Amino acid sequence: EKSGYEHFMLKEIFEQPQTIFDSFRGRLDVEQTLLTLSGLDAIKDKLLAARRIIIVACGTSWHAGLLAEYLIEELCRVNVEVEYASEFRYRNPIIDENDVIIAVSQSGETADTLVALENAKKQGATIFGIVNVVGSSIARMADAGAYTHAGPEIGVASTKAFTAQLVVLELFALKLAQMKGTVSPERLRELIAALHAVPEQVQWILDNQLDNIKRIATKYKDARDFLFLGRGYNFPIALEGALKLKEISYIHAEGYPAAEMKHGPIALVDEHLPVVFVATQDPFYEKVVSNMQEIKARKGRLIAVVSEGDEMAEQLAEDVITVPKSDELISPLLAVVPLQLLSYYVGVELQVDVDKPRNLAKSVTVE
Ligand code: F6R
Repeated sequence: EKSGYEHFMLKEIFEQPQTIFDSFRGRLDVEQTLLTLSGLDAIKDKLLAARRIIIVACGTSWHAGLLAEYLIEELCRVNVEVEYASEFRYRNPIIDENDVIIAVSQSGETADTLVALENAKKQGATIFGIVNVVGSSIARMADAGAYTHAGPEIGVASTKAFTAQLVVLELFALKLAQMKGTVSPERLRELIAALHAVPEQVQWILDNQLDNIKRIATKYKDARDFLFLGRGYNFPIALEGALKLKEISYIHAEGYPAAEMKHGPIALVDEHLPVVFVATQDPFYEKVVSNMQEIKARKGRLIAVVSEGDEMAEQLAEDVITVPKSDELISPLLAVVPLQLLSYYVGVELQVDVDKPRNLAKSVTVE
């Protein structure tokens, strides 16, 4: 039940400190720098021999997969491809027994993902499932896997399942990097500590940014379009922010790599367009700031999600949402939370049935 929350979506957003903890509980030992992911051990030889990893998913789960591509390539130095299941399934992809496929699915029942995996399995690929619903079709057909442990997600828009997917994908990347020896023990320790701090940091966002985000939602709720921009690890978060807003408020939104905007979408920028930058501290930060300046010069309304203590962004942007500082590989887990809340509050203001937006189903069992 909704436990006093007005909607399941809000309840599920607020559950994230707990669900994020649940998805690494028993898998992460900060003191020992130990990572336990038994599903990964089960396909260890295949994984170590794989020349590439293919991630197959749809929608929000695909966004988690995109972030995982960046993470796994960085940490494990192995080639990763991310595929929309619906495209992968029909284009006669080249797959053999040297391929490992990671399937990401909340429901474990998405028809396109399921059939794409069945086809790949027939061609000899090894399937690793990252699934939320225990005993679902994808969980059953996978050769190995790791559940996300987010608990039942009722709201149609995926929130806590997404952050749980990110946690498991982070663990996957860290564990594989540890097995391959592509990450130093010091770096591994740093990343494990950063991951361990996330539940508390998400709680900080919920405790300290709610009124600010509500105010921003009210201020921009009548916009016709929104742009969401980010680079590097924050690019998938920009895509996810745009998807959430579309689903929950019916406002048109696009997510884009911040630097790609000058190749087209910048034509949309005028004094009416809110542009949300995901601009937490990372090696791309300076570049993101110059992208922000480009938008400002064209009178776009700048909203920035930034790390605590970022005075530069505070001067530049009209509205700022703060998240705690974290490692660049981990901070997307924090940056997505304000975007979930922003779309929730815009949707509520516009009287959308946020738990059941029109035309959407929780589990897409038809192609
Ligand atoms: C967005 C959303 C959808 C799902 C997609 C895949 O909020 O919920 O985009 O992510 O339909 O569903 P699963 O993860 O169940 O395979």
